[in-house]
Amino acid sequence: MQPQTTRLALITGANKGIGLEIARQLAKAGHIMLLGARDASLGEAAAATLRAEGADVRFVNIDLSKPATIQAAAATIEADYGQLDVLVNNAGIADRADGPPSKTSIDAMRRIYDVNFFGTLAVTQAMLPLLCKSPSGRIVNVSSGLGSLAHNGDPSWEFAHAKFLGYNSSKGGLEHADRATRRRVAEHRHQGQFGRSRVHSHGFECASWSSDHTGGSGGGRAVSASPG
Ligand SMILES: NC(=O)c1ccc[n+]([C@@H]2O[C@H](COP(=O)([O-])OP(=O)(O)OC[C@H]3O[C@@H](n4cnc5c(N)ncnc54)[C@H](OP(=O)(O)O)[C@@H]3O)[C@@H](O)[C@H]2O)c1
Repeated sequence: MQPQTTRLALITGANKGIGLEIARQLAKAGHIMLLGARDASLGEAAAATLRAEGADVRFVNIDLSKPATIQAAAATIEADYGQLDVLVNNAGIADRADGPPSKTSIDAMRRIYDVNFFGTLAVTQAMLPLLCKSPSGRIVNVSSGLGSLAHNGDPSWEFAHAKFLGYNSSKGGLEHADRATRRRVAEHRHQGQFGRSRVHSHGFECASWSSDHTGGSGGGRAVSASPG
């Protein structure tokens, strides 16, 4: 096991899009990055791109639909680093067969939930023991404005027309899991079971990220994962 002085961050679905940009910015902020991807060749290529930019990045195979890859990733991190400081649950999907309640495909909803909700929860469960070994562990859950009940109930909201029951409710469920994780960790900390560990579970709406980092327009919003 390597002695660790720099913060170690794992991000899922980081071979492209928002995840790749978060990995890039966390690396620039001095983190050792574990770049998660389900496709090894895509993950290795993305890691190589960031290494060419000077980042300390290592590819980790994680497919949220394949529990064995999640367990293997946790075991590798445990063996090689002993702890994890930051988990960014970024991987997520939409599905063309999703839609409003009257039309959405139940199979599509299951596919979406398998990744966005159950897969993300499985990663959190697998990594939580490692995060609790960090003096300042942090979880960042990448949600969506589409997951907000408040937004969905506001007909004047700019995305009020986007009624994708599978995607929207999967992100709403993720936000519940986020709050429950935060509460559970707080309870354990109160009971002293986590010692000095502090794990903060943060859900944040990331609609603005699409223009900042994947859509190309707009200014950059800094990514931070500082000890909370
Ligand atoms: N873009 C937006 O406007 C927007 C707005 C709000 C929230 N979000 C959320 O932000 C996150 C990233 O979105 P994005 O726009 O960057 O999406 P993206 O470009 O489609 O990237 C999604 C990432 O998730 C990975 N992924 C998909 N299924 C996976 C699985 N089963 N296991 C592991 N990784 C998997 C993809 O891998 P592959 O390349 O192998 O498919 C890819 O790396 C998602 O959670 C999304 O819901 C996006």
